[in-house]
Amino acid sequence: MTCSPPPRDPGASMPGVPVVAMRCVERVYPGPPPVRALAPTDLAVHRGEYVAVVGPSGSGKSTLLNLIGLLDRPVQGTYEFCGRDTAAMRDYERAAVRARHIGFVFQALRLLPLRTALENVMLARLYSGAPRGTHHRWATEALEQVGLTDRAHAPANTLSEGERRGVAIARALVNRPSLLLCDEPTGNLDRAAAAAILNLLDVLHAADTTLIVATHEPAVAARAHRTVTIRAGSLESGPPPAALDALEPA
Ligand SMILES: Nc1ncnc2c1ncn2[C@@H]1O[C@H](COP(=O)(O)OP(=O)(O)O)[C@@H](O)[C@H]1O
Ligand SMILES: [Mg+2]
Repeated sequence: MTCSPPPRDPGASMPGVPVVAMRCVERVYPGPPPVRALAPTDLAVHRGEYVAVVGPSGSGKSTLLNLIGLLDRPVQGTYEFCGRDTAAMRDYERAAVRARHIGFVFQALRLLPLRTALENVMLARLYSGAPRGTHHRWATEALEQVGLTDRAHAPANTLSEGERRGVAIARALVNRPSLLLCDEPTGNLDRAAAAAILNLLDVLHAADTTLIVATHEPAVAARAHRTVTIRAGSLESGPPPAALDALEPA
């Protein structure tokens, strides 16, 4: 099935199996009244890319991230994650792919407030099905990665907003996912805390993490290597990634 007219997506012509390959993916919330939050959309994101999904509040960013993160299903279209057709997967298979391969930093963070930073991160290990004996070490390493070793034993409700966001990122990273999704990563943060989170995302990207960040802030989007803009549920791709320039005939 092809979209009509096909939206221009520079990621689609990059070589290799994409991490995310969406074709004509559409999401309508049934309502009433029905809301077409995402018009038929093509999107390809490759390993190692850092992509920002930028648009005003209500434009469909979270809807798109939820679909990419296998938290929701489209009403039409196909979505292959690392070459696997996600529509054919049963719910438990989708949950397993999510647990092992996709890290999601929710806008509302969703930490357990009375549990420590370490316990919150270890919980994501439990769902991965990995051997129990590895949980503590991997969670400790994820907290170290986000610079929160000294806060590991603090309950989440005693942490600053920036620290809590760091814990949410550590939890998303702890199973070493193929793809990290961040929904409004700097929301509610002051300038210094926001800068710390953006620097952390740069470090993760440099360490080969594939990143998709949804944001309404142009300054946050500017840190990504490629931007797709969403307006009223319609995606417009930004300038082609640098890698594509190299493929253009001279
Ligand atoms: N569960 C839902 N049911 C109905 N409408 C929804 C639901 N979630 C989001 N919407 C609507 O879909 C549109 C896109 O929302 P959303 O993806 O949250 O946008 P953004 O993340 O860009 O702020 C908005 O009009 C919003 O009101
Ligand atoms: Mg949102």
